[in-house]
Amino acid sequence: MAATFAHHTQGHSESDHQHMTFLLKKKTIVLTGGTSGIGRALAERLHSDNNLMVIGRNAIKLEALKKLFPGITVFKADLTDTGGLAPLAEKIRGQHPKIDLLINNAAVQNTPQFMDDNFRVEAIAGEIAVNFTSPCMLISLLLPALVKDTPSVILNINSGLGLVPKKTSAVYCGSKGGLNIFSQSLRHQLAETNISVQQAFMPLVDTEMTKGRGVGKLTPAVAAQRILAGVEQGSPDNYIGKVKLLRVLTRIWPSAASSIMKKA
Ligand SMILES: NC(=O)c1ccc[n+]([C@@H]2O[C@H](COP(=O)([O-])OP(=O)(O)OC[C@H]3O[C@@H](n4cnc5c(N)ncnc54)[C@H](OP(=O)(O)O)[C@@H]3O)[C@@H](O)[C@H]2O)c1
Repeated sequence: MAATFAHHTQGHSESDHQHMTFLLKKKTIVLTGGTSGIGRALAERLHSDNNLMVIGRNAIKLEALKKLFPGITVFKADLTDTGGLAPLAEKIRGQHPKIDLLINNAAVQNTPQFMDDNFRVEAIAGEIAVNFTSPCMLISLLLPALVKDTPSVILNINSGLGLVPKKTSAVYCGSKGGLNIFSQSLRHQLAETNISVQQAFMPLVDTEMTKGRGVGKLTPAVAAQRILAGVEQGSPDNYIGKVKLLRVLTRIWPSAASSIMKKA
């Protein structure tokens, strides 16, 4: 693998990736979880000017998306089934040997707490697989298509909860915290390549995931606009909306950040 990538690892530095402009036009893009919420809003903004591939688990939703955005390609895959990721990546790379942008957006959030009667130990592995393992695996499996002579971006959709956890959804918070640390390490690993590793840290957005809870949520459309503005500006860590304040608070008053987020 190292030999295959060797000639693409010349002449870049970690700071080259910062403030790099990356116009979202005529790009080949892989997006996970594009069938609802933030992912669907991303698909809506990206489909007409780019070559968009959407990975989702629900065939009916994928077909509906294809009808709405006819130019897209859809791939059905359940990201809890990590054994299916290698054949999926092979199929994608077979059709598109060069990928400009990989957006790891799909995630699930199980809310029962460990002491609750309805807490299901069987759900833990699947939640970690979608939120953490599958992004790591897709990155590795699609890397040969991302490492090329032109700039590429890996964008991991994260959360304020990846910075400071709340009391509920401990596995979700842990998987997003893991994704944050993973993304930083990977950024070091890929610093000398053409690939920029970025994260978008989301505040509450009005989607299926947050149905019935929270106030002052962003709409998915606004969330998608902010995410993609960060990609176009080459922002390595894009703290969106209230997460900007949260990040400042973690620095100047960590105990306040912790007690505010505990109840989030
Ligand atoms: N909403 C928020 O307030 C918020 C805040 C912080 C971070 N985020 C992050 O933003 C991203 C998008 O979240 P969202 O709010 O848009 O959630 P959402 O509306 O629930 O959408 C999640 C997407 O992931 C897909 N997905 C879930 N499990 C999957 C699996 N096993 N295999 C394949 N696809 C699967 C879903 O498919 P189906 O359409 O089939 O369900 C859906 O397309 C996530 O990374 C989330 O952690 C959201």
